[in-house]
Amino acid sequence: MQHLEHGMHVAILGVVNQKGGCAKSTTSVHLAYWLQSQGHTVCLIDADAQRSSSIWLKGLIDTQIPYQVMQSPDDLRTKIPAVAAEYTYCIVDGPAGLSDATKAILLRADLALIPCQPTGVDLRSAADAIRLAWKIRKARQGLPNAQVLLSRAVTGTRLKDEAIAILKKAKVPTCRTVIHQRQVVADTFGQRATVFDLAGRSAIAASAEFEQLGKEVVMLLTGQQRSA
Ligand SMILES: Nc1ncnc2c1ncn2[C@@H]1O[C@H](COP(=O)(O)OP(=O)(O)OP(=O)(O)O)[C@@H](O)[C@H]1O
Ligand SMILES: [Mg+2]
Repeated sequence: MQHLEHGMHVAILGVVNQKGGCAKSTTSVHLAYWLQSQGHTVCLIDADAQRSSSIWLKGLIDTQIPYQVMQSPDDLRTKIPAVAAEYTYCIVDGPAGLSDATKAILLRADLALIPCQPTGVDLRSAADAIRLAWKIRKARQGLPNAQVLLSRAVTGTRLKDEAIAILKKAKVPTCRTVIHQRQVVADTFGQRATVFDLAGRSAIAASAEFEQLGKEVVMLLTGQQRSA
């Protein structure tokens, strides 16, 4: 974590997982939006060739959030700190896969969030990502902190509780917040919005979950600063 003159810290948050479609971009964009709405300066680095999150941010109707597309592992390793230094929070939306780009992000992140759908196969890929983060952490004096985030959980099934139990038994650090599957979240990209901009009960429920996640992420990063 870099220390700035005014005593604030630059926090770099990597959102990574080898599994495609687990909500990396959705989580990155919603966290960027929420953090900025709290008065923080935020930028998003889009490290995915699909460029979903940068296209999403560019298209947002009511909000401007700074972003950069940066895909090569070399660029990610060498340029993330300088870009991040201009902001309080820098969120890096990772590509699917445990590629060199993902490794480069983990080499720079203070906190790695690993979104994961609560199914057996997906828990396996999240475990691979956690292991990679732990390997890198050994060489980096305890960074990044890595946390699995259960995302796209379907209400009314037992999968979420089973996943929580499996992760706990395997001692895998897991966010307390769970993001549930909701049509309103799936609609946000097409609406050039986030759930925070949309009306209706479902949007309010989804906003509450992303807000809780934002608070949890801030707490995790603040806790790290205290112990650093
Ligand atoms: N909580 C949710 N409820 C409903 N749909 C969701 C939710 N989160 C994400 N989705 C949808 O799931 C799909 C995949 O999400 P997203 O693009 O964020 O995943 P990703 O991990 O970034 O994918 P990729 O690996 O392709 O980059 C998208 O269509 C998105 O709208
Ligand atoms: Mg994506």
